[in-house]
Amino acid sequence: MAVLSISAREFSAFRKLLAEMSGILVAENKAYLIETRLGSLVLETGCESFSEFYNKVKYGGDDDLRDKVVDLMSTNETLWFRDSHPFTILKEILLPEYANRARENGRTSIKIWSAACSTGQEPYSIAMTFIDAARSNPDIAKLSCDILASDISTSALRLAKLGRYESIAMSRGLPPEYRDAFFVQNGRVWKSLRRSSGW
Ligand SMILES: C[S@@+](CC[C@H](N)C(=O)[O-])C[C@H]1O[C@@H](n2cnc3c(N)ncnc32)[C@H](O)[C@@H]1O
Repeated sequence: MAVLSISAREFSAFRKLLAEMSGILVAENKAYLIETRLGSLVLETGCESFSEFYNKVKYGGDDDLRDKVVDLMSTNETLWFRDSHPFTILKEILLPEYANRARENGRTSIKIWSAACSTGQEPYSIAMTFIDAARSNPDIAKLSCDILASDISTSALRLAKLGRYESIAMSRGLPPEYRDAFFVQNGRVWKSLRRSSGW
């Protein structure tokens, strides 16, 4: 249940502000998203209404507060090898093509940007795909691959950097053979092996 209700006017103002701050577009029929995700923060910051909170966020000059708002409003749903076919295309078409081009141009590295990486499953899946592809293609094996991962959500990015995942997250789309090759288990938490496993 929402801790504080938002009026139609407040919702419209917040929708606009969020789009300005982050590009996140809240659907017109989803006022409840702002109520449930930001309600507690409104009260924590000492505001008594969404209008008061809106003024604080928009005009208060508090960057940390703005980051918190964007963080709470971002939807960080992700999983390993999400939708599978982009990773099949990466392995079977893009990486061989990049390797060919790199060979022709005398280049030794490629760069891949995971531009909304959430908690890291996407860039780690890219890394595992690259290592896998390099095992069966000597041209890819000659390349180094730099993966840049970024996200507007600071809390998601923090988790991505840690590379630590609970069993439930691990069970979502990660084949056991990849899990065992690239992660080590410590109780309920799995930690990415990074360098020792090749990434
Ligand atoms: C649904 S998740 C998808 C994560 C991952 N790319 C995947 O496909 O599994 C969307 C991510 O986009 C991020 N995001 C939303 N707007 C963004 C922006 N303007 N810049 C960077 N990241 C953004 C959110 O914080 C969230 O982590």
